[in-house]
Amino acid sequence: MTDIMKEFISDKNRTALFKGLEMVKANSKDIVVIETGTIRNHHETSRSTIKMAEYLKGIGNLISVDLNQSHINISKEVCKGYDNIEWVQSDSLIFLKAFKGEVDLCYLDSVNDKDHIYNEFVLSLPILKDGGVIIIDDYHRGQKCNKVVDVLKRLKYPFEEHKEQILISVTKELKKIIQGLYCD
Ligand SMILES: C[S@@+](CC[C@H](N)C(=O)[O-])C[C@H]1O[C@@H](n2cnc3c(N)ncnc32)[C@H](O)[C@@H]1O
Repeated sequence: MTDIMKEFISDKNRTALFKGLEMVKANSKDIVVIETGTIRNHHETSRSTIKMAEYLKGIGNLISVDLNQSHINISKEVCKGYDNIEWVQSDSLIFLKAFKGEVDLCYLDSVNDKDHIYNEFVLSLPILKDGGVIIIDDYHRGQKCNKVVDVLKRLKYPFEEHKEQILISVTKELKKIIQGLYCD
């Protein structure tokens, strides 16, 4: 096992991301993952971009979206040697809205703003396969998860609370309910 995989598996604060990847691996041969917010510096401990790329070696591809080109440049340096990552410089909402295709997992980790992340969640649903997974980072460490959690609790839709992340299993029912909120 590589050092990156060891680091990924031993990160007890972010177990949802590893679990989510395991869930989609069971259902998909060629996994596609979108992450909003790439590795932004050389001291980042979460390092989701390189961990996911390592996990997806030979079985899938990662699209890492970030508003800031200098962060993308750093992420490219950190993830040197991985050929399964595509970096896109864009606002995440613009990117998700325009995305054509189906994905297995969306990892939402961009701006620390509950409304922005909620909008990422809403825009992720139509492009996620049924049985896909959404992970949101920084649970209890800022406001990223707050609005999504409020809405899911209000709808009584189950989600998993991991230490610093939440995991949401995407179903047809969830897509319909959330779509319904905006069609009235
Ligand atoms: C917390 S960092 C991501 C950390 C990374 N996922 C990791 O684990 O190392 C958040 C990133 O989101 C980016 N960001 C902020 N606002 C954004 C937006 N509206 N759209 C896309 N990316 C954004 C920032 O430039 C920053 O690089």
